[in-house]
Amino acid sequence: MKELIFATNNAHKLQEVRQMLDGVVQVVSLREAGLEGEIPETADTLAGNALQKAQWVWERSGRDCFADDTGLEVDALDGAPGVYSARYAGEHCSFDDNIDKLLHALDGNDNRRADFRTVICLMEDGTPRYFEGRVDGQILTERHGAAGFGYDPVFMPDRYAVSFAEMPMEVKNHISHRGRAIAALHEYLSQQ
Ligand code: IMP
Repeated sequence: MKELIFATNNAHKLQEVRQMLDGVVQVVSLREAGLEGEIPETADTLAGNALQKAQWVWERSGRDCFADDTGLEVDALDGAPGVYSARYAGEHCSFDDNIDKLLHALDGNDNRRADFRTVICLMEDGTPRYFEGRVDGQILTERHGAAGFGYDPVFMPDRYAVSFAEMPMEVKNHISHRGRAIAALHEYLSQQ
């Protein structure tokens, strides 16, 4: 089976993606590939960051690989926090700090429209190819639920009456930005 290194240091993400691509491709972790170090993420777009991370692996290993980058894009904030979602409230901030800052920024604003977008960059023989997944919804006025991570307690996807943090993980993974981007990658790899 074809092997692909996944450029992430997040063990949870690795497990989730491995499961979704099971039977199509063998997902190799950075550690298994003997790669160590901080992967740079300094681009100002999701696609740019995904490319930068995949390139980092490709340049060090010469092996096919992929990387992802995700952002929460809020309409009333002109797409912020976007590519800066992880460090919206500062360099070493917590998920809670980020949510506090977001709720404050939208305080009194009726336009709560937002989306999560994930871009995956697949690097094959040094050539990048992109896959995208997106879920639209709205930012709630307060936290609901305790599951998940990041902005989950304040994001309610369209056609659902609960936040991401109130959903069973399987349901969230099925409709989420990341789930959809991985499904697109899965479809491409299945046809190879
Ligand atoms: P990453 O590119 O997957 O590391 O995501 C960047 C940031 O976006 C994370 O640190 C979270 O704050 C946020 N994020 C990404 N995916 C999700 C999600 O599924 N739910 C809530 N927040 C997310």
